[in-house]
Amino acid sequence: MSFRLQPAAPARPNRCQLFGPGSRPAIFEKMATSAADVINLDLEDSVAPDDKPQARRNIIEAINDIDWGVKHLSVRINGLDTPFWYRDVVEVLEAAGDRIDQIMIPKVGCASDVYAVDALATAVERAKGRTKPVSLEVIIETAAGIAHVEEIAASSPRLQAMSLGAADFAASMGMQTTGIGGTQEDYYMVREGRKFWSDPWHWAQTAIVAACRTHGVLPVDGPFGDFSDDEGFIAQAKRSATLGMVGKWAIHPKQVALANEVFTPSEARLTEAREILAAMAEAQRTGAGAAVYKGRLVDIASVRQAEVIVRQAEMIAGG
Ligand code: COA
Ligand code: MG
Repeated sequence: MSFRLQPAAPARPNRCQLFGPGSRPAIFEKMATSAADVINLDLEDSVAPDDKPQARRNIIEAINDIDWGVKHLSVRINGLDTPFWYRDVVEVLEAAGDRIDQIMIPKVGCASDVYAVDALATAVERAKGRTKPVSLEVIIETAAGIAHVEEIAASSPRLQAMSLGAADFAASMGMQTTGIGGTQEDYYMVREGRKFWSDPWHWAQTAIVAACRTHGVLPVDGPFGDFSDDEGFIAQAKRSATLGMVGKWAIHPKQVALANEVFTPSEARLTEAREILAAMAEAQRTGAGAAVYKGRLVDIASVRQAEVIVRQAEMIAGG
């Protein structure tokens, strides 16, 4: 480990972030009773420009009136290239009670984008005497966002989470794709006449995970658009979990259970992690630095891997 220790990310479950348009208040109660750890009430792309003022009012009312239980409650504001974002921050923070936890900033391109929202939120909080500081989350969904991902991850002590937004990311990168995440038909290798599909999101995901883990931020996988394709969602979510992401968005309620299942360490995985810890503890008692577990080498690095799984399971069980 470097002299500078890796900071821990916020210890709260973030297995699924369920989105709903701020212009569709009829679903807010359903979102509140869902099994998602995080709720994102949207003011951005799922809300038409003329509906933004009413959507803000809907969201403020919902934050104040609905019982959100222990959910982490976030509002997605409009991007900093729009005329809407400052009113999103000011109106929501001025009128919503302390139940709001987080503001999500889309299409972040550099650390200054986060600075701007941080400064505005700080001013509103001081003016209104708010005692609970709102936290921030960002979406990496542009070429600039991924190019500056590390400075963005380091941008503010308010920053808790960072998501990959596959569709806008693909558009900004000029990728020849139309689907929102998942397998892309033309991204394949050929061997002996057979096609093997590869993962076009892999690089962006690992860049996000590395930046997040360096700065104590939760890395999250974004939307999977085809909500009739459970198998595709699960495959994408499993790849994200394998790479170190802690959760995934749901853009339809049926995706919530799928995400929770993938991002909760399974009993089998937890048992294996605990057995590795026990095998290593036994080895260390006899003065050995390594042990054999089910025919494979385990050492102190295996202990660190196993501890990640045990800590995640305990945190989820405790939350
Ligand atoms: N959260 C909670 N409940 C939701 C929901 C959501 N995001 N979307 C739909 N529902 C409810 C519906 O009201 C319906 O409830 P009912 O059985 O009591 O009538 C049920 O889930 C089934 O809905 P369904 O008919 O399959 O979907 P729909 O056509 O009503 O809505 C979408 C589909 C995709 C338009 C809708 O899910 C949606 O708006 N998703 C979020 C989009 C978003 O926020 N995008 C921004 C981030 S990418
Ligand atoms: Mg987007």
